[in-house]
Amino acid sequence: MQPINRRTVLKGGAVLGATGALTAAQALPWTWSPAGSVPGSGTGADPAGVWDPDCDQVIADIAARGDIGKVNGILRSWTRNGQPLPTGLPTDLRDFLTQARRLPSWADHGKLAAATRFNEKRGTYLGVIYGFVSGMMSTVIPREARAVYYSKGGHDLKDRITKTAKLGYDIGTHNAFAPDGEMMITCVKTRMAHSGVRYLLPKSPHWQNGAQDQEKLPISQADMMVTWHSLPTSAMRQFRKWGVPVDPAESAGFLHSWQLSAHMLGIRDEYIPANWTTAESQARQVLDPILAPTPEGRKLADMLLDLGNNLDLTILSRGVLGAITRYMLGDEIAGWLRIPREPVWSPLLETSWGPYVMVREGLLDVGLPRQTYWLFDEFLRQFVLLYMAELRMPINITIPEQNNPK
Ligand code: HEM
Repeated sequence: MQPINRRTVLKGGAVLGATGALTAAQALPWTWSPAGSVPGSGTGADPAGVWDPDCDQVIADIAARGDIGKVNGILRSWTRNGQPLPTGLPTDLRDFLTQARRLPSWADHGKLAAATRFNEKRGTYLGVIYGFVSGMMSTVIPREARAVYYSKGGHDLKDRITKTAKLGYDIGTHNAFAPDGEMMITCVKTRMAHSGVRYLLPKSPHWQNGAQDQEKLPISQADMMVTWHSLPTSAMRQFRKWGVPVDPAESAGFLHSWQLSAHMLGIRDEYIPANWTTAESQARQVLDPILAPTPEGRKLADMLLDLGNNLDLTILSRGVLGAITRYMLGDEIAGWLRIPREPVWSPLLETSWGPYVMVREGLLDVGLPRQTYWLFDEFLRQFVLLYMAELRMPINITIPEQNNPK
């Protein structure tokens, strides 16, 4: 048998099968059936041994030619889904992008219209959920925390958050997948950034010194599905927990927008859940059991909690952001991240966030002090302001050229 190395991995379509050696220590064995996926069938290969060979090969070749900076420069102006590719790209990348930018045949514009209705109604909650549920959860996803910490983004976390926030913003726009929208290009650029990480990170001394957690290459398809579940599946779990009524067609539309995003991010259709039931079953297998603290994740969480500090937004203090994280993710995860209970906000959230949501939804009109309502409303308002302020500048997702220099 040929020895497994980066080259053979890329050449062999990157499907290594369930060797066990490539899966994370705490991960459950992959038994999720492709029958529950969008196409309803597939090879059933363990996604822990599958990466993104087509994109990885092109980006590795461009990196080997020393052309990443040049390509990033050319792609800077390429932002709209319907925009032609800029001139001057290397032929291999042009050929790859011509395919990668296309929506799959199963894209359903009726479902996307329902997603728009959902985003319009629930956008404010979604912003908070992406920030405090998905964003903070990423710090207790060990492989993601390590990959982020030791890659360039770990050096400039604010820049990374802004770029990630762009994806969360773009998917919620009314024209996310239309020719004048930006989500498809944002996904394709992210796909290339991930290939850049797969090329660079294994060269980092930290990675070589054991940070790789038994991984051959970072960001496998299994890892991507873990992160995917930290976004839409976790958001749906919060809506259920808070008792927010969600129209079934709109919830299916929201899922569809994330299915398309997964496809555009280079995730194989056979791993993308077809509906919320199969999404839940996959999340229970790939997401829930692997959450754990790491020193790198703790440091990232610590940096995240300080991001509100330099702003003139009174409510978004470190203590309040910590209390919200504790409330959203629970005591165990907050304990892992060493986030203390906040004396005022923690009890207030525990007793009043549920009723606040009910009042906001028009399902309850008594029992919540006016001041508490105002405080939570003000928190949401300031968070949206912060989010929008971060997005005011043109944000350009690029292929990394270096790891975290520290
Ligand atoms: C880069 C989103 C999965 C690690 C990015 C960027 C976005 C993004 C928007 C560009 C931001 C930037 O350049 O800083 C996503 C989404 C995912 C996903 C939506 C899944 C649905 C993962 C996974 C890992 C990971 C599973 C690691 C295990 C990274 C790293 C970077 C990156 C290290 C590069 C940061 C840098 O520039 O140094 N991702 N990601 N991502 N992502 Fe992901």
